[in-house]
Amino acid sequence: MKNEKKQIGAFAALKKSIQSELDQRGVALLEPIDVQDSLRLMKALSIPSEVAMLDPWYNKGVGGEREDYFEYITSILEQLSGVSKHVFLWGFPEIVANFLAILPAELSLVAWLTWYYKNNPSVIRGWRSSQMACLHLSRKDAPLYPQHFLNDAQLSLQERGKLRYMPGPTSVIEEPLLVGFVGRSQQTGHPSQKPEKVYERMFMMTTKSNDLIIDPMCGSGTSAAASLALGRKALLSDHSEEYTCMVEERIGVRRIIIPEIVRDELHIEYPRQDLVKVHTNKKPKTKTLGKSAVREKDSEPSLTFPQELLD
Ligand SMILES: C[S@@+](CC[C@H](N)C(=O)[O-])C[C@H]1O[C@@H](n2cnc3c(N)ncnc32)[C@H](O)[C@@H]1O
Repeated sequence: MKNEKKQIGAFAALKKSIQSELDQRGVALLEPIDVQDSLRLMKALSIPSEVAMLDPWYNKGVGGEREDYFEYITSILEQLSGVSKHVFLWGFPEIVANFLAILPAELSLVAWLTWYYKNNPSVIRGWRSSQMACLHLSRKDAPLYPQHFLNDAQLSLQERGKLRYMPGPTSVIEEPLLVGFVGRSQQTGHPSQKPEKVYERMFMMTTKSNDLIIDPMCGSGTSAAASLALGRKALLSDHSEEYTCMVEERIGVRRIIIPEIVRDELHIEYPRQDLVKVHTNKKPKTKTLGKSAVREKDSEPSLTFPQELLD
């Protein structure tokens, strides 16, 4: 009985500290945690969100390959459909295409989105990749906000009742890769960092002010940067200590520690850092020093690019 009381108190305290980070800073970051554990935690804490960004490794190149990739990602999509109305699933076109036939019953395809970039350096033989795919999936109750893309002239027409149709944004989003001096101020050294502007378009379509976005494989924290730029809230986690430090430094937040009693109850393991390490083609700009991170301010700009685009 005493233990049960303690448990309830620990869950409530954790939910309160997540809520208070979201209220005060707009971003809450969990300590390193596996994606499936973090989604079980969100369900247990009853933290519903409007949008989930799911940008896993792509089963090719960085992050390696897993035989059960499709079953694995599908089970994450199933979990996500219980906590989020919209889900964005990233990947290479030839890989994400396979999910269309095996989507969980609760989710259906809203749009096939393409991030298009022209500046992938030409160092491979054959076709030079210039796109990544992102499936926009949603539950039936998920709202869309194409009106968030109206310009001043269109807004004024709308106010006067003279807007004859709602011009939605295009499903191809053109933004350059963060390589060399392009997007230098955003670059963190994460091997697969997406441009903030790409995420902003997706969040504008699916959220309004103060809505919650979750990103349980958050990498360098692009979801948080984009969400802050738009006045949304973001709850992030990644299983890597290195990337958790990266988000702390990029966004200026500190990780929230999950109480032991909550871990025990939900069977949440500490991710083994020797298993989560990936081999990148460039030196990260964050160095891990215990639980803090230090930026190498004078380092050279990145002259490399996402390694998987080379494979
Ligand atoms: C493609 S990257 C995400 C990049 C991110 N969107 C950005 O813009 O920086 C994939 C991320 O998933 C994380 N990841 C891979 N497996 C995971 C797991 N089982 N649980 C939690 N995070 C995981 C990796 O550490 C990596 O940071």
